[in-house]
Formats: sequence, C-alpha cells, structure tokens
Amino acid sequence: MAERTGAELFFVRIRFRSWLYSGVEVIIQPDKETAARLVARILASDLRAKPQLVLGLATGGTMESVYQNLVRMHREEGLDFSHCQTFNLDEYVGLTAADPSSYHHYMHHHLFRAVNVAAGNTHLPEGTAANLDEECRRYEALVRQAGGIDLQLLGIGKAGHIGFNEPLSALRSRTRVKALAPATIQQNAPFFGGEAKVPRRAITMGVGTIIEARRCVLLATGDSKADVIAQAVEGPITSMVSATALQLHPRCTVVVDEAAGAKLKEKEYYRWIFANEPEWEGYR
Ligand code: F6R
Repeated sequence: MAERTGAELFFVRIRFRSWLYSGVEVIIQPDKETAARLVARILASDLRAKPQLVLGLATGGTMESVYQNLVRMHREEGLDFSHCQTFNLDEYVGLTAADPSSYHHYMHHHLFRAVNVAAGNTHLPEGTAANLDEECRRYEALVRQAGGIDLQLLGIGKAGHIGFNEPLSALRSRTRVKALAPATIQQNAPFFGGEAKVPRRAITMGVGTIIEARRCVLLATGDSKADVIAQAVEGPITSMVSATALQLHPRCTVVVDEAAGAKLKEKEYYRWIFANEPEWEGYR
C-alpha cells in the first residue's frame, strides 16, 4: 500500500475522530429538494464504498424524493444495488403486500422496481403474519444474521417518532407491535383517504434496534417538523420523543431544510461544521 503523506494522515485522523465522537450532526440545506438530494448522495457514497451494504429504509412522504434521487443515480450513474440488502423499519398490521397503502407496496413502487436490488434481498416485516410476536422475533434475527444495519434512513413523525416508536417507547425497545398514536393516525390519514381507514397498529423496529445501526441519517423537511426537530436534536432525551434517542448514537446525521431547521438554537454552529469539517468536503 502506498505510504500516506503527513497531511493525508492528519485528515484521516480527523475523520476517524469525528466518526467516533461526533454524535448528532445537523446539516441545514436551503430547500427540501437539496436536502433530499444530499441524503441520497450520503447513501450512494456508502453504497459505493461497500456494495454489500445493509440498508435500513423508511417510508413516508419525505422519503419519496430520496428514492427519486436514488433511482436517477441508478439510471444515470450506474449506482449498483445488486449486492446490498435492505430492511424496512415498519409495516402496518393487517395489510397485505399487495395493498396499495402497505409499506411493501410503497417500497416496490418508489424504489425496488426501479433499481437492480434482488427481490430476495429486500425485507419488510409481515403485517399479516399469523403470529405477530413470532414475526417480530424473526425480523430481529434476520437483521442480526445480515450482520446488523450499516446505514439506517429515518424520517420523523410530528410527535417525534422514528419508525413507529410512539410516545413512551422504551429507548431499548426491539421490533414489536405498537399501537399508533392519534397524531400519527392524523398524519397518515391522507395516504388512506381518511383517519377511519388508517390501521391502528404496526410492526416497528424498536428504538434499541434502530440505534444499533452503525450510521443513522434522518431527513426532515417543511415547517410542520420545525418544533419536533428542535426537540429531537436539542431537547432532553425522553421516551416521549423517541427521536431524542439518536443523541445517544455515535454517528447520526440529521439533514433538514431551512423550514424544518427554523427552531434550532445552534444553527450557526451547525452551518460552520458543514462548511468547514473535512468529512463534508465532497458534499458542499
Ligand atoms: C415510516 C416511518 C415514519 C416516517 C415519519 C415521517 O416508515 O418510519 O417514522 O418516517 O412518520 O413521515 P412523513 O415523511 O410522511 O412525514
């Protein structure tokens, strides 16, 4: 292997240190398109560096433009998904994969059908399993067998959930069935044509499962997420807002647009880090 120069070693050390100690880093982008593109670029860079990447995926309105970007990168830049494995965070109880409101259907529609990921390498919890507890244990074991999640993509609910970890989810919780909070039912009603049609329960990876991922990347856009982002990033850690558990994670990147970042107190510090730290060199 070629010898590294002193300057190269310096930057390798800084990079290594920032991975170990950075905790949550916040990146503020001008608008939701730029924010989603940045998240897709982070994911693509990790996938190129490790083609067998184990990817944790999220659904919801915010993620749609991340998947559009990944599909474009696959078509235009040859981004290769053929060796990776994917694990989704959650699925509604009672919905079959064919149901247009299921997360199986969402993932097929927004990503899987448009890239070269092998069908057998994509995993979601089965919301129609006869024994749901058994299904949760099977899903946890599958993640473990794959060697754990390398990069977990996350959105955030208006009441602070990651996955469907609703208020008072234990910060060490594992994959299990959770009853959806009224705020979540309201938030997801447009996808079902009314609150009455939203399933009341879902299988979700636990907070403990999520924060075991080697890297977490959370995307939030729009002013309706401004309060919860400020709470999640700068508020006290509490099971009332499961996203605050990300503060315990050694390597979590929170990408927001100006609107979702509007209520953060330390905006100028976050902007300085993105503008100056070598880790973000290729992303500015
Ligand atoms: C769904 C999931 C949820 C969503 C969150 C934000 O798989 O994990 O936590 O990411 O509810 O949803 P949107 O983007 O629709 O606001």
